[in-house]
Amino acid sequence: MWSRILLFVGLFSVGLGLEQVRYDNYKVYNIKIDDVEHYQLLSSQEKAFELNSWREARHPGDTSDVMLPPQYQEGFEGLLKQYNFTYKLKIDNVQTHIDAQRPKKRTGYMEWTQYHTLEEIYAWLDLIEQRYADIVTPFTIGNSYEGRPIRGIKISFKEGNPAVFIESNIHAREWITSSTITYFIDELLVPRNPGIRDLAQNVDWYIIPVLNVDGFAYSHEVERLWRKSRLPSDPTGECIGTDLNRNFDYLWMLIGASDDPCSEFYAGPSVESDPEISQLTSYINTSIPEGTIKIYISLHSYGQYVLSPWGHTAEEFPEHYPQMMHVAKGFSDALFRRYGTVFHYGSSATTLYEVSGSGKEWAYAVKGIKIPYTIELRDTGELGFVLPPEDIIPVAREVTEGFVGMIAAAREIDIL
Ligand SMILES: *[C@@H]1O[C@H](CO)[C@@H](O)[C@H](O)[C@H]1NC(C)=O
Ligand SMILES: *[C@@H]1O[C@H](CO)[C@@H](O)[C@H](O)[C@H]1NC(C)=O
Ligand SMILES: [Zn+2]
Repeated sequence: MWSRILLFVGLFSVGLGLEQVRYDNYKVYNIKIDDVEHYQLLSSQEKAFELNSWREARHPGDTSDVMLPPQYQEGFEGLLKQYNFTYKLKIDNVQTHIDAQRPKKRTGYMEWTQYHTLEEIYAWLDLIEQRYADIVTPFTIGNSYEGRPIRGIKISFKEGNPAVFIESNIHAREWITSSTITYFIDELLVPRNPGIRDLAQNVDWYIIPVLNVDGFAYSHEVERLWRKSRLPSDPTGECIGTDLNRNFDYLWMLIGASDDPCSEFYAGPSVESDPEISQLTSYINTSIPEGTIKIYISLHSYGQYVLSPWGHTAEEFPEHYPQMMHVAKGFSDALFRRYGTVFHYGSSATTLYEVSGSGKEWAYAVKGIKIPYTIELRDTGELGFVLPPEDIIPVAREVTEGFVGMIAAAREIDIL
């Protein structure tokens, strides 16, 4: 009886909007992992210290970024010292940066000086779909687990163009990705220079600004640092969500993914368990003519990388690796030349860490798209997910320049 009432109250408060989780005095540490023992020690302490992994080192010599609530910081620092970890404090109080990310007053329309909610992004999509109806075709791949439409647009100036497919914000807390890609859409619609006009006119762009709509809404309304979907698949009911970029149907759960529903890297109860992924892949399969997508991009943050297959092994490289690297260099060089920001490139497994069941791996191995990337935007770990809104335009501008270089490089080797 009581539990039923409590459950009812619980559901009711979800409907009204839960209170926002606060991160007062949460700290982010950057920790060097010297050896396998270090790695195992840190992973074994995840639950005890309520560690939230922002970026995970998986090779000796790499560093991890982890966030900790205040009550565990002293004990955790003691442990780090005891086991001779080299570490730095990166962020002293996460909440102050989250506060800086939330506008005091919402303008409601897009001008890329604030982070927008899903409603605001969708209202803007409505607007551009009407205003640029001759070049913008709206599409919806289906609804999310919680019933939100997952919307995208195709921008096409003429028939017969090769296509680039971009999914963004598959990880909820990576707000800079949807901000960047909506800015890029705006650039394509009203090109400000000949390079971008060429991109708009001679390439078709399929763009889903927010793929993980449930997680994104949740990151705005409740937990700013939420990463996964909102699918409740844990039988204990304790943990929610799938890491959608581990849920694709290629080498699912092989490596760099977890079968623990509480892990941030939980691959889901089964392959394509989450509607966001099964509908994405079936949309690509059935609604886009086979062979038209030449480049597939999954936009992420943070770290400043262009990552290609393979994710699952550092011992082998895919057949098209030289082409992948040529085009990645085009992106990275163009951006560096104009803005001085460094993006490293290489395969996931050799450059960052092992991963399987991700979008770019599926795009390459299952769909035969020769140029598939995960692109990790700014920064390199100073503020990570809590980049200030003032950074949106600089990041979006440099990525736009990167795309100009990427397309030019792809043409050099007849990808486009
Ligand atoms: C940490 O380093 C000190 C001094 O180099 C050494 O005595 C100690 O055994 C090390 N502790 C561990 C757990 O490796
Ligand atoms: C999509 O197409 C690929 C082959 O191109 C196939 O292997 C895969 O099963 C299809 N997936 C869905 C969800 O239809
Ligand atoms: Zn990500």
